[in-house]
Amino acid sequence: MGARRGPVREAGTVLETVPAEVVSVRYAGRFDVVGLTLGEQHPSWAHARPGQFVLEPGDPSAGAVRARLHWLAGADQDPVHGTTAELVLPAGRSLAPGARLRLLGPLGHGFSAPREPVEVLLVGHEGGAVPLRWLTARLRARGCVVHLVLSADDPELHLDLPFLRRHARTVVLTTSEDLGPALTRSLDEHGDRLGVVYAVAPGRLAPALVGTVAARGLACRVSTLDLADPSVLCGTGLCGGCDVVLLGGPRAGQVLRSCLEGPVVPGEWLAGDAR
Ligand code: FES
Repeated sequence: MGARRGPVREAGTVLETVPAEVVSVRYAGRFDVVGLTLGEQHPSWAHARPGQFVLEPGDPSAGAVRARLHWLAGADQDPVHGTTAELVLPAGRSLAPGARLRLLGPLGHGFSAPREPVEVLLVGHEGGAVPLRWLTARLRARGCVVHLVLSADDPELHLDLPFLRRHARTVVLTTSEDLGPALTRSLDEHGDRLGVVYAVAPGRLAPALVGTVAARGLACRVSTLDLADPSVLCGTGLCGGCDVVLLGGPRAGQVLRSCLEGPVVPGEWLAGDAR
């Protein structure tokens, strides 16, 4: 059940972008769900998984100086269709089929699925729903029963609820203020059947969440990357904006460079001595 962890990529390693063409755009509230084709088969995309992210380099000629980081919302590869992927982008981008992007990725270590079909709980805040939405579909396809607890401080920021309600056994919506109590209620209801808890929440929320889970002795995997944090700039290990001080585990007290060494790590690394 542990996250499969490949070799750590060196900061600043030169990675190549791949061209992507928009093939579909589906309106989803404040977001567009953007389908992409990357043409030929790209080996690094064949094993993409939820929790990984991509970098869209800046394009000064289009007024976008900074690179943009996006959660990967889906990816697939087969001999007929080549590589396809999905991103969830702010609706204001006005992308249309035929538009072209360049993407670097998939980056980081994502969530691994349990070996056996088990009952799972997914917890996320706002943009964290993007990887959790893909993870929900993958876990459901593997026979897992999925429960979701999602928070957003603006109800419009809940992503693609019809999709989630089709794939999850239960979906609880709340705000960041009530996320802790909502998680506790969900653990009270499902905890004795859960095999693992997956969490994607910003640094101000994540330690308390994984502490609550660890205190019950449940396995937990958590993403340490907050793509909504404006200090998270590069996604390639250079800026240090994603650094997280680990509270527990074998590297307690050390700094994790989340985009290189994470973002997904065992929950106890953030939970301190809650267990
Ligand atoms: S986002 Fe820049 S080092 Fe991780």
